[in-house]
Amino acid sequence: MSSDERRVAIDAARAAGLLLRDALSGPRHIEFKGTPTNLVTEMDARAERLVFERLRAAFPHDALLGEEAGAVAGTSGRRWIVDPLDGTTNYAHGMPVFAVSIGLEVGGRPMVGVVYDPNRDELFVAERGAGAWLGDQRLQVSSVATLDEALLATGFPYNVREVADNNVREFTTFSVRAQGVRRMGSAVIYLAYVAAGRIDGYWELRLGAWDVAAGLLLVEEAGGRVTNLTGSPVDLDNPAIVVSNGRIHDAMLDVLKEIRGGR
Ligand code: IPD
Ligand code: CA
Ligand code: CA
Repeated sequence: MSSDERRVAIDAARAAGLLLRDALSGPRHIEFKGTPTNLVTEMDARAERLVFERLRAAFPHDALLGEEAGAVAGTSGRRWIVDPLDGTTNYAHGMPVFAVSIGLEVGGRPMVGVVYDPNRDELFVAERGAGAWLGDQRLQVSSVATLDEALLATGFPYNVREVADNNVREFTTFSVRAQGVRRMGSAVIYLAYVAAGRIDGYWELRLGAWDVAAGLLLVEEAGGRVTNLTGSPVDLDNPAIVVSNGRIHDAMLDVLKEIRGGR
């Protein structure tokens, strides 16, 4: 399908990722978006501007949605969904675990997904029907069959201090049922890693469309399963997600049901 779209998204993700990486050790201006745990740096906005400029120049009729600037209308029925810096808290501390995520949604479905991790120079690319790739290596989810043997990942919402439904009980329970639960601070990287078979499952209670637009397609195209917390399709505009290699998916949903009931 859309090799132009893929190429432009790859170039934009690489350029934004390198911009972020090169500025990682420099001075940083940090602000707070509403809660003391929701940070933003000036680099989030700079990286997003770079990505938006490239997408707009190549596809002037497409809509854009970015975490920092919000929505820009378009007329084509297509929408680019951008997280210019996923892992802002890591970034603000100088920790090199973050990525750029660019997804193209057409008719409500992600069709192209690009995730670039500049610290490992890893470029994850998916196109609907054409597989998920890390460079020239086709990605395949893992074959781990039980929760007992599974390495999982999760993250916590920015209002973790304010709300009771903050993933702490879920985290505690999975920690004693799975082989391990990782918490590295980048939803986009977890999604790419499920696609790559590096982790077997990932769940998170509240995310933005920009966190998942590219990564969900990576997981699907690598043969994984993607649902909301109760096993239904993910609402891209208000995502709560369980993603896995497919084999451990029902076991993950069962644990969530045990803790959360039908929520
Ligand atoms: C956050 C990270 C984090 C996840 C949060 C996200 P940001 O994105 O992906 O791992 O737990 O829910 O909001 O703010 O660094 O782009
Ligand atoms: Ca994010
Ligand atoms: Ca972000």
